[in-house]
Amino acid sequence: MAVAVCAVTDLPVGKHKEFDVGGETVIVYHLEDGFYATQNRCTHLFMPLKKGKLVDGCKIQCPFHRAQFDVRTGEVACWANFPPGVQLLNVVRGEKALKTYSTNVVDGMVYVEAG
Ligand code: FES
Repeated sequence: MAVAVCAVTDLPVGKHKEFDVGGETVIVYHLEDGFYATQNRCTHLFMPLKKGKLVDGCKIQCPFHRAQFDVRTGEVACWANFPPGVQLLNVVRGEKALKTYSTNVVDGMVYVEAG
């Protein structure tokens, strides 16, 4: 089921925002080539990504240990690397991609596929 989350004009290119989609919290990103959506928590230690920053036009960087994910695919672009020593944690918290959600734009509204 597709859920309308916002108008295209509500989320300028380069911005991201958190929305409820059928009971799941997701982050919707507006990139140069369209809208994308991922789960809202980092797969490293489950911290919220809503305060993360978009880098290189397509990656969300977690504000906690700086893991980066390509929001188009959810794949890990760079795993947790800050502060020095966090690599010890990575022995038990290996790389894991973000869940992604399909998006669509109809009549100026952004839709995200739930579930
Ligand atoms: S919680 Fe995101 S990198 Fe550690």
